[in-house]
Amino acid sequence: MPPIQGLVFDAYGTLFDVHSIGRLAESLYPGSGPAISNLWRDKQIEYSRLVSLSDPAASGTRHYQSFWELTQAALVYSLQRLGLAHTPAQVQALMDQYAKLDAFPECASVLQALHQAGLPLAILSNGSPAMLQSAADHAGLTPFLQHLLSVDSVRQFKTHPAAYALASQTLGVPTEALLFVSSNGWDIMGAAWYGFQTCWINRGQFPNETIGPRPQHQGSSLHIVREVVGV
Ligand code: LAC
Repeated sequence: MPPIQGLVFDAYGTLFDVHSIGRLAESLYPGSGPAISNLWRDKQIEYSRLVSLSDPAASGTRHYQSFWELTQAALVYSLQRLGLAHTPAQVQALMDQYAKLDAFPECASVLQALHQAGLPLAILSNGSPAMLQSAADHAGLTPFLQHLLSVDSVRQFKTHPAAYALASQTLGVPTEALLFVSSNGWDIMGAAWYGFQTCWINRGQFPNETIGPRPQHQGSSLHIVREVVGV
């Protein structure tokens, strides 16, 4: 494997902690918080795959809607499916929370150390540009990140190759010299199949995926990335 020349991070669940969504959902709908946040996340990702898989053109899918729109659609579906009445204000409150998530506690110090070591750092996310900018600013991560790459520019969601191609194209580093970091097992697999070196942040102590290659590195928090890179 070539030496690592840059780092590419997934956003939601990897850098940004989505637990506050569950807490707010629980306060709005007592007893249903975990069910809402789990169904919402699954539906959000399902919709992203549906629009990409149903028209996988490299020039973008004609079914494209931004991740912000898909996230709101997935929320409304989830509330309906769970039989929970919802006002526009409740939907807005949950969406607003998505725009200002906290980072995981170790995030800023790890990104700062990697940044100071001179490595280019980027987010590569399904998230739309405004979502990513808002979350990175709110969490104080913007100074350490050279690029907030959104799949919005190619109108295909991960794990479409056009989405993963953005990293190498923007950083000017071959994909195989980039370390892709994600807490999502499916994202790690898509990235490995695309050609990245991979580091799985297994925050949920989940089992390894039972198809495809194993991640090259894994740990329970972002601290493992410092070990992998040696800074
Ligand atoms: C992202 C989601 C999938 O940031 O976590 O791309």
